[in-house]
This record gives sequence, C-alpha cells and structure tokens, in this order.
Amino acid sequence: MPTFANRVAGLGTTIFSEINDLAAHHQAINLGQGRPDFDGPKEMIEVAAEAMLSGKANQYAPGMGILPLRRNIAQHVQAFYNLDIDPETGVCVTSGAAEGVYSAIMSVVNPGDEVILIEPYFDTYLPIIEWAGGIPVYVPMRPPQWTFEPDELRAAFNAKTRAIILNTPHNPTGRVYTHEELTLIAELCQEYDAIVISDEVYEHLTYADARHIPIAALPGMFDRTITVSSAAKTFSVTGWKVGWTYGHPELITGVWRIHQNVTFALNHPGQFGVAHALTMNGSYYEDLQAMYTAKRDFLLAGLRNAGLKAIAPAGAFYIMADFSDVFDGDDVAFTKHLISEIGVACIPPSAFFSEPNKGITRQYVRFTYCKTDDILQQAAEKMLKLRG
Ligand SMILES: Cc1ncc(COP(=O)(O)O)c(C=O)c1O
Repeated sequence: MPTFANRVAGLGTTIFSEINDLAAHHQAINLGQGRPDFDGPKEMIEVAAEAMLSGKANQYAPGMGILPLRRNIAQHVQAFYNLDIDPETGVCVTSGAAEGVYSAIMSVVNPGDEVILIEPYFDTYLPIIEWAGGIPVYVPMRPPQWTFEPDELRAAFNAKTRAIILNTPHNPTGRVYTHEELTLIAELCQEYDAIVISDEVYEHLTYADARHIPIAALPGMFDRTITVSSAAKTFSVTGWKVGWTYGHPELITGVWRIHQNVTFALNHPGQFGVAHALTMNGSYYEDLQAMYTAKRDFLLAGLRNAGLKAIAPAGAFYIMADFSDVFDGDDVAFTKHLISEIGVACIPPSAFFSEPNKGITRQYVRFTYCKTDDILQQAAEKMLKLRG
C-alpha cells in the first residue's frame, strides 16, 4: 500500500493530543494544554456572530486579512510598542500564530541554512525548520531561572545562521526576556545578518514588574524581524485561530506568498471579532493580567503545598514545577503518574527539547493556570495526595 513521505515518518502524535487523550481516559483535571476553559469578551463574540448572521463574512476573506483587522493590529502595535506598521503591506493575518510561524520560517529559510532554536521551544518550530531544509542549532535555557548562557548563544551564530526563533513571554517556562537579553540577541543578529522570527502570542501576559519588549522595537531590528502574534491567548479564543504577522513589507511579502498557498485566507467572522477586540479600552489588558496573576499565585501555592518546587513565572500562563521531592522518575513518568493516580494532567517538557538536552527538564513538568478558579482549586486539592 502507498504510504506517506519521509518527512512524515518521524512525526508522532503531538504531546498535547497525547496528554488530552490520556487525561480524558482517566477523567483527570487537565492543566496540560494552554486552552482557557472560559470565554473571551462577550462583545467580541457578538461582533463575530453578527458578522456571520448578517451574511457579510461567510465567504472567503481577503488573503492578507480584512483591512479593519490589519489597521487595528497596526494601531495596537503603535499604541503599545511605538512601532510604525503599514497595515496594507506590513501585516499578514494568519491561521493562528501557528501558521504565522510556519509561513515565516518557510519564507526565509533556504535548504542548508542554520536556524537557532532556544530550548525549550514550542514543539511545532522544529518540524517546520526541517521541512524548509534548515538545520536547527540548539541553545538551552536552564532551570531554575530558565536563562541561556550568553556564550552559548554567541557560539551558536556563524556565517550560515539565517534566523533565530524567539518566543517571549515564553512557553513553557514563563520567562520574559529582559532588555539585556534581547539586546545581545539583536547585536548578534546584526553582526551575522540573521532574521528573527519572534513568537509573541503571550505579549499581554506579563506580571508584576515584567514588561514585554518586542525585539522589533530595538534599534536596527525592525527590518530583520517578523513578529508573530495571535488573538488566542490575549482574548481567550484559541478556537478561532486568528493570528497575524507584522514587520517590514519586504519580509511580510514573503510570509504572504507562503500563506496564500497554504490557507489562502482564514476564518472570516473571527477577523471581525478580533478587529473589534483590539479597540476595547486599555483596562482590558490590566484586568486580564490581574486575573492571571491571581490564578498564577493560587496554582503556585497549590503546587508548593503538594511538595513541588516552583518559582513565580513573569509571563505567559504556565508554571514549571520541580517534582523531585515527591516522585522518583523523569518528567514523562511523573506526568503519567499524576494523570492516572492523582487525576491531574500536566505536560512533560522534554517534548520541547532536542534529544541531547532532554535531561535538563528531567525533574520538571509544566502546568497551565488558564482555567477557572474552581478547576484550579480541585486540582490543588487532588495534588495534596502527592505528599503521600
Ligand atoms: C508559543 C506558542 N506559539 C504559538 C501557539 C499557537 O498559537 P495559535 O493558537 O494562535 O495558533 C501557541 C499555543 O499554545 C504557543 O504557546
């Protein structure tokens, strides 16, 4: 029987599907996938529903995205980061950040190019680099602070470096890169003429003093950065898959050329909803941060009460917790134990590391707190059983 191509042969089921299935089988509380179990703003959903009911958005959308959405993305980027984006040529709306990253990588990486990946990395980055014929070069971040060594980063750059994939605020560690870290990356990219693909889907999820800085806003970086973001996490609509890329028109033209041959256009009604959401007043973002700060602190206390060690993350909605005081085994074994014996699901982060570096996260697992308070409470109670 004919079978699939070689590029598919090495790919298994993603860790998220695997954990979701296992969690469902054991009826475990799922703190695995970063998928809120509550809705985004009602007024945004009403605008999308109206776009469907009125019949104005039930056919293909323009390939680059509807202009009101592109304009509002440009205004948002101007208001928050003081970046000047041309909504006509500098924004391409994509099917979630996931397709944004795909189209960005495909549009800049040639076969044989090296692409720097900071580990742990969001799991889709690696296969996309490989499909483009790129060669991944890994730079690990290490616990407990989850920072990279500047010398290791420097050593990863060379004349073959074409791009680096960044993700800040970071999944799964919750790191928010500092100005100093971003400056080092920016200097190396300029020295080696490399492009940054910056995945900023958690741009509005930062806590306390942490502030998200888009690397595109650093001197000399706008022309060499494709920034990727999405409505998924900011507006709690992961199911809509409305994302976008922005940057210099020269780079965004490349993204668009890939995009038009992959999805061509995306979810038309959702684009109206997100265009509206981006005009909601400034307190929306503060309220979101306040809500997630409370959830983060609650889960953090629950994990510590259960005997796990964790530091408060500065961004995104994940906590990396060290379980070595309550369990003897690696992250995959602990995850299975937690699901089947305790009734709570998490994600083993070794799925986000290259083979040689998987050991770095041997005693850590990732929990998400994008869940209702009631679910977090139930999970915290169940995990007390870990203390034996
Ligand atoms: C770092 C990162 N990038 C991209 C995505 C995918 O975003 P979207 O749902 O907008 O495709 C996620 C989702 O969890 C993510 O964590």
